[in-house]
Amino acid sequence: MNTNRLSPAMEKALSDQMNKEIHASHTFLSYGIWADDKGYQGIANFLYRHAQEERNHSIKFMEYVLNRGGKPKVDAIPAPPDDPQSLTECFDNVFKHEVDNTTSIYKLVDRALDEKDWATWNFMQWFVQEQIEEETLAQDLIDKLKIAGGDQASNESLFTLDKALESAPNDVPLAQEATGDNP
Ligand code: FEO
Repeated sequence: MNTNRLSPAMEKALSDQMNKEIHASHTFLSYGIWADDKGYQGIANFLYRHAQEERNHSIKFMEYVLNRGGKPKVDAIPAPPDDPQSLTECFDNVFKHEVDNTTSIYKLVDRALDEKDWATWNFMQWFVQEQIEEETLAQDLIDKLKIAGGDQASNESLFTLDKALESAPNDVPLAQEATGDNP
């Protein structure tokens, strides 16, 4: 008896996303190593933690496919992109990577809707929300660097930024959670 509750196309799409999340993890690990090597240990720490979050996302996809009676497939992971040339490029690329991932997440939501696969549609809503957080986090990085002076930032302001990111939370508060008393 076939107990797989996912269509073959959905099983493949979810498995591909599992691999894409691992690629994101490798990318942020690689950027973290670049930052660490440049002496930005706080920024590196932030990127290493982000790499671990991406791995957790991958595991969520893995577990879901298995729970639904499917079998995800681990593929070869493409090499991470080249090292950035500057902190501005690094943070811009983190943002672009997140937007690109949001596009993939939305495609999965579209597919779930087309197939009337409501279990997968429901599962994907966690990722829709997570992508809002991750894009906001990446926007915050870009904003903080701009305030510090961008590529012309002084060593002192970069030192302060680096320190701030070392202990920055992994999550950001979302609009849905805001109130007048706590905007
Ligand atoms: Fe797994 Fe940054 O999205």
